[in-house]
Amino acid sequence: MTRRPDGIRGTAITGTGMYVPERVLTNHDLAQLVDTNDEWIVERTGIRQRRIAAPEQASSDLALIAVRNALAMADVDPMDVDQIVLATTTPDRILPSCACTLQQKLGAKRAAAYDMFAACTGFVFGMGLARGLIGAGVAKTVVVVGVETLSRIVDYTDRNTCVLFGDGAGAAVLQACDAEVGVHAIDMHSDGELGEVLEVPSGISRNPASGDTVAAREHFIRMQGKKLYPFAVRSMEDATRRCLEQAGWAAADIDLFIPHQANLRIIEAVRERLGLDESKCYVNIDKYGNTSSASIPIALDECVRSGRLKLGDKLAIAAFGGGATWGASAMTWTIPAERAQRAAATYGAVKEAVS
Ligand code: ACO
Repeated sequence: MTRRPDGIRGTAITGTGMYVPERVLTNHDLAQLVDTNDEWIVERTGIRQRRIAAPEQASSDLALIAVRNALAMADVDPMDVDQIVLATTTPDRILPSCACTLQQKLGAKRAAAYDMFAACTGFVFGMGLARGLIGAGVAKTVVVVGVETLSRIVDYTDRNTCVLFGDGAGAAVLQACDAEVGVHAIDMHSDGELGEVLEVPSGISRNPASGDTVAAREHFIRMQGKKLYPFAVRSMEDATRRCLEQAGWAAADIDLFIPHQANLRIIEAVRERLGLDESKCYVNIDKYGNTSSASIPIALDECVRSGRLKLGDKLAIAAFGGGATWGASAMTWTIPAERAQRAAATYGAVKEAVS
């Protein structure tokens, strides 16, 4: 396997998987709960429906199916996984970590497993970590999974937020590859100054759960959407441009761009600023809403299994989220079509086996 001039090993995604819960919550359903309507939601966000986890499903249950699908595509046994990086804002519990619960369900007994809290940028940050571990020779096989049951922390009396979010899981298996392909660049940033723009005010150490915090509905997401909007557009464009520069690509070289699915207008603004054709930008926000850390790996898996992403394609991904956090990555795709198609054929079987 070839190495970069600095001796670092290349890293590539060798398998992807996703899972979304069965229950669909439409804009019309939400209009029964709060003062909103389908027209407003579609026009301002592009969202038509989102998926909601069943009462008995926690984040680790969603993640389990996504990861099994990703491992099947990569043809990797759970016992061969070295590390599990689970990106989430909605773990099953604070203790133990959601990643440890997933590790047990998966039977990945050798894997070190831990949660990463980087909101919607979690999958990109997880990829950055995995690339470092594999590049330095610390791990051979790393699973990065983004999973959310945001419906558990969404206030369904607040029309400003409840129309936006949905539940789901997406995963990727990362392994070493030739240095010329795979991940060329990852750009990661945070700015705690913007912390209060998107927050869950209570429940842990700052304001522990009490009758008062529950009565004040402080265990739900609060968002200043207007402040986030320009930051989202600027940060995703900047991070993508930095990755393009590192990879030595022009924007026109990109075959597929997968942005975090937070708002269709944000996606469109980023795409236009980058000068990308509409056909190169993947959008599925209409089906799932904003699934935070799961949004990019869900979209990625849809692109892989549908044949939209092909061997040798130049892929860029970009995200922003609470914290604030933002980042992007540029990579040359290494999964052959036959492997993705074979995995697509067994997709239902993995889901059946788990449920
Ligand atoms: N239905 C009907 N009316 C609504 C709704 C709703 N669901 N929500 C808000 N409104 C009203 C507002 O109350 C306001 O009314 P007013 O003028 O009488 O005060 C009016 O619609 C306009 O509200 P704005 O906030 O100006 O609407 P805007 O066009 O900015 O869209 C939105 C709001 C969709 C939240 C937008 O600002 C946005 O997408 N921001 C970024 C949010 C985001 O990306 N969040 C997630 C980021 S991080 C992560 O992914 C976890």
